[in-house]
Amino acid sequence: MVPGRLPFALGPSPIHGRGAFALAAIPAGTRLIEYAGRRLTPAQADALYPDADAEAPHTFLFAIDDDIVVDAGVDGNEARWLNHSCDPTCDVVIEDRRLWIETVRDIAAGEELTYDYQMTLETRHTPAAKRRFPCRCGAATCRGTMLAKKR
Ligand SMILES: C[S@@+](CC[C@H](N)C(=O)[O-])C[C@H]1O[C@@H](n2cnc3c(N)ncnc32)[C@H](O)[C@@H]1O
Ligand SMILES: [Zn+2]
Repeated sequence: MVPGRLPFALGPSPIHGRGAFALAAIPAGTRLIEYAGRRLTPAQADALYPDADAEAPHTFLFAIDDDIVVDAGVDGNEARWLNHSCDPTCDVVIEDRRLWIETVRDIAAGEELTYDYQMTLETRHTPAAKRRFPCRCGAATCRGTMLAKKR
């Protein structure tokens, strides 16, 4: 990693649309970038994006906790282009109410950077709900949906 320079580039992804790809090998446990964006309350996010749970969700929302939602659609950065994978290369770490993308394993140059969105609906994750959020990550362990496993 070169200090001050992004360790990844954006490009077309086999998973979906645009994705982020490592420019060089990156070791496990490397902090790559902050998941930046304006900070909203859940009520503000619901009011601004009433359809976020509906048919074609494409917002850049990330809930930090019950009080703060980060909206990377405004004041966001390149972190918002990471796609979801059920066998991800990265994780999102919450530290002092900020979000950071970190690698969870060694990554080869050119590999796509992903994390597990673990999307959660307030309603039950029925088979129909899972089909509304299909996953195309291609991992052997793909669960077929971007929705999280509800316990
Ligand atoms: C934050 S964007 C990621 C960037 C996106 N690839 C793009 O070009 O806009 C999140 C959206 O990308 C799509 N996406 C990300 N990962 C996916 C996956 N594993 N399978 C299917 N769609 C995915 C979904 O539409 C999701 O709502
Ligand atoms: Zn998957």
